[in-house]
Amino acid sequence: MTTVEREGARKTAEGLEHLTGFGNEHSSEAVPGALPEGRNAPQRAPLGLYAEQLSGTAFTEPRAENRRSWLYRIRPSAAHPAFTRTGNGALRSAPFTQTVPDPNRLRWNPLPEPAGGTDFLAGLWTLGGNGDVTQRSGMAVHLYHATASMERVFSDADGELLIVPEHGGLLLRTEFGMLHVEPGHIALIPRGVRFRVELLESSARGYVCENYGAPFRLPDLGPIGANGLANARDFRAPVAAYEDVEGPVEVVNKFCGNLWSAVYDHSPLDVVAWHGNHVPYAYDLRRFNVMGTISYDHPDPSIFTVLTSPSDTPGLAGVDFVVFAPRWLVGEDTFRPPYFHRNVMSEYMGLIEGAYDAKAEGFVPGGGSLHNMMSAHGPDRETFDRASAAELRPQKIDDGLAFMFETRWPVSLTPQAARADHLQQGYDTVWQGLERHFRPLH
Ligand SMILES: [Fe+2]
Repeated sequence: MTTVEREGARKTAEGLEHLTGFGNEHSSEAVPGALPEGRNAPQRAPLGLYAEQLSGTAFTEPRAENRRSWLYRIRPSAAHPAFTRTGNGALRSAPFTQTVPDPNRLRWNPLPEPAGGTDFLAGLWTLGGNGDVTQRSGMAVHLYHATASMERVFSDADGELLIVPEHGGLLLRTEFGMLHVEPGHIALIPRGVRFRVELLESSARGYVCENYGAPFRLPDLGPIGANGLANARDFRAPVAAYEDVEGPVEVVNKFCGNLWSAVYDHSPLDVVAWHGNHVPYAYDLRRFNVMGTISYDHPDPSIFTVLTSPSDTPGLAGVDFVVFAPRWLVGEDTFRPPYFHRNVMSEYMGLIEGAYDAKAEGFVPGGGSLHNMMSAHGPDRETFDRASAAELRPQKIDDGLAFMFETRWPVSLTPQAARADHLQQGYDTVWQGLERHFRPLH
């Protein structure tokens, strides 16, 4: 992509309009009159378009959980040639059985820079995950590092993609229209939705949670009340925008763990109007309304949940997306960094910018750590010593943006993650030297 093309993409990105809200029955049309009124499938759809439903949940799932959209497009999605297998690159899927699950605390430096011409899809590198794509349960942790905009189109039948940029803005061209995200924002591409990622800078890097399970939703708020955490109105959905392109377009489909490719004779991003609630969305994590103590002790970090994918067990998430955003610490007689912890849930953490208040060093933007089921973790020695001696004045934590994918099952690594050059050696040493302070009283 040339600099001129990148500048064009940035101009497009910065001029975008959007719809607001989470889980809405949105509707949008790029051409007036393209959206039928009063019915979904008229005998002849307006403007010679084809009507097509995209079902993200079973028809019969409860109304509160049902996700589907109606698309009005130049050609129906069914008009495509056969898909054939193509290389998976560094993308892997559950079940992850090629390594022995590792109980150690692990930490990685950022992905190395890939070769020139690596697009978002080719730049995806799987760290690990759990569950099984064919069972629609579990999740995968991917990182990406791209140096080129996609020319092909991608869709993932295996799950929804939660994209967490750490470096470089992205213009996402989807069937539903365009979204613009920068580091500090997230984007979600629902299961099966086709999209293309264009880079707004010369390279882009970040994280992806591929959620095979139930679609992410906002967590219940319980006693918090009607507002707070991620507020629904701050989510952005695209307005309809379509490509009327005749000519070869490669479309890559991830299906049951493998990539399949077909060359269409038109762009499948040809949706002129749509309505529904199975839609891509974006969110600025700095809008997160952070809750915390105003007396003593920390609430558990579930208080920082942005999105949750519920399981069949009430309160047990397949995966939660949690953000550690700028906030005030005011707890009295309280150890203020995150506490020492062993957790039945497994925690993959990444850093979007700055520093994280439980680790003095070694956890860098673009890197990540994995604290698997029941592995003991918490502040490093330096952080512990400092926080134990600190004068407890109100303190603003405003130099970092970290996040966590917290999942119900252990995360098994891919061989490439277990043997990566950027896997740090000696992570355990950050907890060495935590001194014995115990002095029994008689
Ligand atoms: Fe933890």
